[in-house]
Amino acid sequence: MPRAKKPAPDAPVENGQSEAAPDEPIAGGRVEETFQIFQEVQGSVVGRSREVREIFAAMLSRKHILLEGPPGTSKSTIVRAIAHSMNVPFHFIEGSIDLTPSKLLGFFNPGKVLKDSYLREYFEMGPLTQAMEEGGVLYLEEFNRMSAESANLLITPMEEGVINIPRYGQVVARKGFTIICSQNPYDDVGTLQVSRAFLDRVVRVRMDYQDEAEEIEIVDLRAGESDPRLVKTAVRITRLTRSAPEIKLGASVRAAIDIVSIVRNLSLLSDGELRPEDLADACKMALTSKIWVAETINATPEELIERVIERARKELGSDFYLAGAGDKKKRS
Ligand SMILES: Nc1ncnc2c1ncn2[C@@H]1O[C@H](COP(=O)(O)OP(=O)(O)OP(=O)(O)O)[C@@H](O)[C@H]1O
Ligand SMILES: [Mg+2]
Repeated sequence: MPRAKKPAPDAPVENGQSEAAPDEPIAGGRVEETFQIFQEVQGSVVGRSREVREIFAAMLSRKHILLEGPPGTSKSTIVRAIAHSMNVPFHFIEGSIDLTPSKLLGFFNPGKVLKDSYLREYFEMGPLTQAMEEGGVLYLEEFNRMSAESANLLITPMEEGVINIPRYGQVVARKGFTIICSQNPYDDVGTLQVSRAFLDRVVRVRMDYQDEAEEIEIVDLRAGESDPRLVKTAVRITRLTRSAPEIKLGASVRAAIDIVSIVRNLSLLSDGELRPEDLADACKMALTSKIWVAETINATPEELIERVIERARKELGSDFYLAGAGDKKKRS
């Protein structure tokens, strides 16, 4: 792909976003409107005020963004909430080795080209060119799974706001065009080293696990009405997988959400009977696929989860799910 020509000097370009005066807010609105959108986003996610502020500040500064954090740490939730509240076009793409440059950029419809010739209207835009033309957000999840060839394609649009497509011509980014990428900081199968050239063109927002109270609130929100002790227990067990010495990478709040809803449905299938063994089964179902056991450990993921459950039982005492309630109890 040839590098695009620099735009004319009278078309101000800053980080790939043309036509905007430096103090003009995002989404073409006014400052008060931007602040309202910011507050709306804050209201739709649990906690995360630093991260939401940083992402908004980056967008107001017309920067492209890299969100870095372990799985399940609100990256997609925040980006979707921002795009929704701003009411801007939003393109969500999963990074993978199969994401070829033409899937990002678009391609000429081969049937039409064969019948006719390379006409501009036969070009089918990809998410990158669509986001550029619409001034929208292109969100690339697990960016570091993309091929270097596809990742490099983003550099000129990020830097200059334009891209040249052979036989089609130039696509110019409208104001608001933003690339947001996410990656998790752990080396994993299928990830690639992100190039320095790319990293030099983004600002990075670090995401980490939220505190216990916020995770309880997230589980309440996502799993729906539940026994508070069940939620507390599921969150504590999940959090303990992150500090367990036998586990290299613990589970995210997704696991706690899964535990709560599986326990609830297991009890439903036992005619409403609340059984302590359902908690252990749900934990194994929810956690064993998500944790990454340290290589030196000679134990199965199921055994490790049992150990973690026991640690949580000791820590929570009477706050543990069904503690002191005998072996079985009927759901009220
Ligand atoms: N701050 C939050 N407020 C409300 N829900 C949240 C929050 N953080 C996470 N969740 C919920 O937890 C789950 C995982 O969050 P999300 O998909 O945003 O994580 P992620 O960082 O994008 O993960 P991955 O790196 O695996 O893509 C979702 O169900 C989401 O609704
Ligand atoms: Mg995500």
